[in-house]
Amino acid sequence: MIEVNNIVKGFGDKIVINDVSAVMEPGKCNLIIGSSGSGKTVFMKCLVGLFTPDRGQIVYQGEDFTSMDDNGKKEIRKQIGMLFQGSALFDSLNVEQNIQFPLDMFTDWSTAEKRKRVNEVLARVNLKDANKKFPAEISGGMKKRVGIARAIVLNPKYLFCDEPNSGLDPQTSLVIDKLIKELTEEYQITTVINTHDMNSVMEIGDKIIYMYQGHKEWEGNNKEIIFSKNQRLNDFIFASEFLRDAKDMRMLEQAGKIENNRNMDDLLK
Ligand SMILES: Nc1ncnc2c1ncn2[C@@H]1O[C@H](COP(=O)(O)OP(=O)(O)OP(=O)(O)O)[C@@H](O)[C@H]1O
Ligand SMILES: [Mg+2]
Repeated sequence: MIEVNNIVKGFGDKIVINDVSAVMEPGKCNLIIGSSGSGKTVFMKCLVGLFTPDRGQIVYQGEDFTSMDDNGKKEIRKQIGMLFQGSALFDSLNVEQNIQFPLDMFTDWSTAEKRKRVNEVLARVNLKDANKKFPAEISGGMKKRVGIARAIVLNPKYLFCDEPNSGLDPQTSLVIDKLIKELTEEYQITTVINTHDMNSVMEIGDKIIYMYQGHKEWEGNNKEIIFSKNQRLNDFIFASEFLRDAKDMRMLEQAGKIENNRNMDDLLK
């Protein structure tokens, strides 16, 4: 579990994260949503220690990460896996070398042990016959799988994904979302995902935090989000006419004014 208590982060005189508190729970996909520039990436970078908040605390499993010494921070970082936007694979390393990289950095395992673990995670993300391929030779969806495999290779307690679906088609996005959710539940990882993909929100949003201009505007889950009365949130999630119509129909259905529509249920569950 990660507890975020009243964090503030600014650059110069511009406050980018304004007094945000949240609890990120294990075994759940904790989503941070919000429009471009609302502060999602800065927030995530504060959580993993790439930025130091100006104020507030980030507490990992009861221990204050913000005030830890370098050794303490290093211990926490070993338990963190990160999937960067665009996957951020090393172009000059092949798939298995990319995945092995954290093992080279943080373990003293033998080559055979490392190879075994690399193959385990490759199988877990359903990537076959790609070990020797270079990033330029594989598709965007495969790159994400490699990024996920690299992020989980050290068995992290915490997984951070910044826009895991960027650049992917809707179907591949769904497959990647489901994979992240399965891994989160299987290994009880505390997973934090930045996204502005509404399919992800509905599909895997166990917990959703909506950021608006650096502050937390709303918090809930994928069942509650469509009934929210928060105007800013509604403007954000129901930006398209199609989704607005879907929401209106769901409201009518809930009020018993129209018959239950299975397809709509699937869409909005
Ligand atoms: N290193 C930095 N120095 C100064 N300002 C920054 C820095 N990083 C981010 N910002 C500013 O912080 C604000 C929030 O940026 P952030 O990248 O967190 O947005 P975001 O919600 O992740 O957007 P997107 O959806 O486009 O990824 C922006 O106004 C950005 O210009
Ligand atoms: Mg971002």
